[in-house]
Amino acid sequence: MNYPYVTEFRQSLVEWFEKEKRDLPWRHTKDPYKIWVSEVMLQQTRVDTVIPYYNRFMESFPTLELLAEAPQEYLLKHWEGLGYYSRARNLQAGVREVLESYGGIVPDNRHEISKLKGIGPYTAGAILSIAYNKPEHAVDGNVMRVLSRVLNIHDDIALPKTKKIFEAAVAELIDPENASSFNQGLMELGALICSPTSPKCLLCPVREYCTAFNEGEPENLPIKSKKVKMKHISYDVYVCEDEDGRILMEQRPEEGLLANMWQFPMVEQEDDSLIKFAHHHDLNVQAHQQILTFKHIFSHLTWHVNAYYMKSKTGEKGEWLTREQIELLPMPVPMLKIWQAIK
Ligand code: ADE
Repeated sequence: MNYPYVTEFRQSLVEWFEKEKRDLPWRHTKDPYKIWVSEVMLQQTRVDTVIPYYNRFMESFPTLELLAEAPQEYLLKHWEGLGYYSRARNLQAGVREVLESYGGIVPDNRHEISKLKGIGPYTAGAILSIAYNKPEHAVDGNVMRVLSRVLNIHDDIALPKTKKIFEAAVAELIDPENASSFNQGLMELGALICSPTSPKCLLCPVREYCTAFNEGEPENLPIKSKKVKMKHISYDVYVCEDEDGRILMEQRPEEGLLANMWQFPMVEQEDDSLIKFAHHHDLNVQAHQQILTFKHIFSHLTWHVNAYYMKSKTGEKGEWLTREQIELLPMPVPMLKIWQAIK
């Protein structure tokens, strides 16, 4: 491939970024640990959502050492509501590796940094370029959208192998002196200007060099196939309180969706779910009432939730916790919704 205006493209992008960039909390630091945290939070999550989480996280875990030592439940409590909780557990595993294998210094080269838990090609490139100003590619969905338009790339971005094409393009385009501003400029362009459905081309600093703008139909790129089909599951959730005001809770398994998070007991909906549930926990249920019905959408899965409240004598089995104890547990958003309704 050959980009005739590469120098001009770089200069326009970097100048625009340095002038127009949003003032975001992780843009006041070059600490690779902090950049790492911000990039992990920003995967799959919008900037506006991330900002308060990032700030709270840095108050509690200002250094890699403090994150490494944190109890997992306390860590997950800081991630509560952000979703994709394995990101938090991988991040902690990654910083522990940095302490054990690299003396607490985040590696500054792709070979070593890529061995760390949770660090894929994008996160590696983002940390290397933003914290260390190394000319490394950091290609995510936004960057693929921008470059598919600039370079007129019609490969299907839903296919994993397509990412390599964009990584090779960034490797050639990137400004070797200003890698940080170049990569962040591509991200910022994707966020502020080169949006999926109505790109603001008249405000774009690189429209002169953009094939799709010059040919007239930037909104037709990128090409993206394959929508994975949504799965649906219905659950009954039981908020079960004993005479002392303690509530039955359970912890999710340590692998899979919402691993290790806490919840009110939930079972897949069946006609006799409640009887089975009461039997399983040795409960003596007096009466139950429906309190809430809603759905919660995960990336490929929708939960249809019916929540019930009931009083029972304490059963032999399970974790019966006070309201104060429950407040400290990391719970997924659908459970927080039920908890709010109960309170
Ligand atoms: N999205 C991913 N990384 C980002 C960053 N560093 N700033 C803003 N948005 C981002």
